[in-house]
Amino acid sequence: MYIDTSSLTNKEMYKFLIGGVAPRPIAWAGTRSKEGLNNLAPFSFYNAFSSTPPIVGFSTIPRVDGRKKDTLQNVLDTKCFTLNCVSYELVKQMSKSAALLEPEEDEFEFAELEPVEAVNINAPCVKGALLVFECELQQVVNFGDQEGSGNLVLGEIKYINIDDSIYNNGYIDFEKLDPVGRLAGNWYSTIRDRFELKRG
Ligand SMILES: Cc1cc2nc3c(=O)[nH]c(=O)nc-3n(C[C@H](O)[C@H](O)[C@H](O)COP(=O)(O)O)c2cc1C
Repeated sequence: MYIDTSSLTNKEMYKFLIGGVAPRPIAWAGTRSKEGLNNLAPFSFYNAFSSTPPIVGFSTIPRVDGRKKDTLQNVLDTKCFTLNCVSYELVKQMSKSAALLEPEEDEFEFAELEPVEAVNINAPCVKGALLVFECELQQVVNFGDQEGSGNLVLGEIKYINIDDSIYNNGYIDFEKLDPVGRLAGNWYSTIRDRFELKRG
């Protein structure tokens, strides 16, 4: 089979992406609104792009009604965000924090997570996350205004907050970090296996 992507609907193309670019790491982004409200959401369109300067990026797809995701609005307003690594131990709370709440609602409370203040930027982190990147916004790349058009948020990692228990001689102990990746549908992967987890 040979497929011209221009013949595909947004939904069909999305299914090729999530099935074909997998497993994907998860950017669990902590942001704050200009009114000072905390926000937390996972994004699996996520990766690293440069080590000097250290650039990471994740992409937010607009809500079905076309509105911006709160994370994107907050990043545009405050120019910073934290990225919290999702270890297996926190995966249920990560899934809960993906609920589509209104801007004035706090996903930390909703997912029963405790926010802790980032050390050097105006954004919350997840208490218990073993690895946190404190990022400053570098740029947002917008890919259009159709259904499914992403906004790639690129950030420069300014500070790394890493738990001593997973850091050994300049290396991250990924067995102890136990990061979770996203597959398609309700499927996720650990560094050992895959598992299913329904949203919420
Ligand atoms: C594992 C996982 C990965 C996700 N990845 C993305 C993504 O890459 N882009 C996106 O726009 N939404 C993604 N979502 C959905 C958002 O997390 C969800 O829309 C969230 O409510 C956005 O929150 P916000 O409006 O507070 O920014 C993902 C959800 C889950 C559970």
